Amino acid sequence: SAQNAEKTPAVVTVTGAAGQIGYALLFRIASGQLLGPDTPVRLRLLEVPQAVRAAEGTAMELDDCAFPLLAGIDITDDVRAAFDGTNVALLVGARPRTAGMERGDLLSANGGIFAPQGAAINAGAADDVKVLVVGNPANTNAFIAASHAPDVPAERFTAMTRLDHNRALAQLAARTGRRVDEIRHLTIWGNHSATQFPDLTRATVAGTPATDLVDAAWVADTFIPTVAKRGAAIIEARGASSAASAANAAVDHVRTWVDGTPADDWTSAGVVSDGSYGVPEGLISSFPVTSDGTSWSIVPDLELDADSRARLDASVAELVEEREAVRALGLV
Ligand code: NAD
Ligand code: LMR
Repeated sequence: SAQNAEKTPAVVTVTGAAGQIGYALLFRIASGQLLGPDTPVRLRLLEVPQAVRAAEGTAMELDDCAFPLLAGIDITDDVRAAFDGTNVALLVGARPRTAGMERGDLLSANGGIFAPQGAAINAGAADDVKVLVVGNPANTNAFIAASHAPDVPAERFTAMTRLDHNRALAQLAARTGRRVDEIRHLTIWGNHSATQFPDLTRATVAGTPATDLVDAAWVADTFIPTVAKRGAAIIEARGASSAASAANAAVDHVRTWVDGTPADDWTSAGVVSDGSYGVPEGLISSFPVTSDGTSWSIVPDLELDADSRARLDASVAELVEEREAVRALGLV
């Protein structure tokens, strides 16, 4: 409406805007799905110089959608300009893995992208900046970016495990023959990697404990590995890493952050650990989280059984190794 158009637009920066996730993401942001129907957005697209032309092509298409909420588009290859006044930063730009690689193998290729971006966010982003890292390895890239932004509260740097959460919802719904929106209290713990722990021990499906509806062998042998290895299965089938589902999860993550979680549920996100659940302070790990519309909180005081404890510990051990690797690379 004319009234919305007069509101100050939120600046949303998307890195890797000319990539495949970027192509699936930008139209949803510009249509109002990221920040809601009352918030105009100004898109800021960061690309490497050789992809700026392609980003310009996408911007032409964004113009051609005539989105009422789209207040403008800036395209740049300058990292400082990209984050000047940014309210929401979606750090997507990074190389995807190809068949046979684990996400951690991308650390040396992609880690170097996130130090200057963290520094630029520190230097110029808006006071309320919210950062979501999508580029892999997402948790450790978020850790690198946060390390270079000493003036921004570390809580504002998050890593995407919402895609894993959504994958877990879909698998459990299919198995139980119920709808995804009948499921509550699923959790992805740990790293966005094959070591993640998709946890249904507390989940309910239409009010019934999930553990009463599915057997332990299915959970251990099918549910957990299917969710944890879904990224590789998509790469294998599609010949390219997930894009539209990743963009969808990024929209869900930010939308939940700004709208808050419903009172009877939580979601999953990679957030900085405060030492909860024995995860070393400062690591960016996935937890069950709620949002009050401004900040995330880790759901406290859940009891972990021995199997859950072992699975979480294994994923956290990998996060610790990745932290050691980025220290050795001089990235933090
Ligand atoms: P893509 O190769 O299609 O696009 C990546 C884009 O990033 C390219 O256009 C490239 O030019 C750009 N880029 C590279 N370095 C940059 C820099 N320094 N600044 C700005 N832009 C830069 O890849 P994609 O399929 O869009 O995937 C992007 C990343 O997201 C990959 O690392 C992928 O593994 C990851 N991913 C994460 C999740 C998740 O759940 N966390 C899900 C899917 C994909
Ligand atoms: C995914 O989970 O689909 C992405 O992280 C891409 C990948 O490498 O698995």
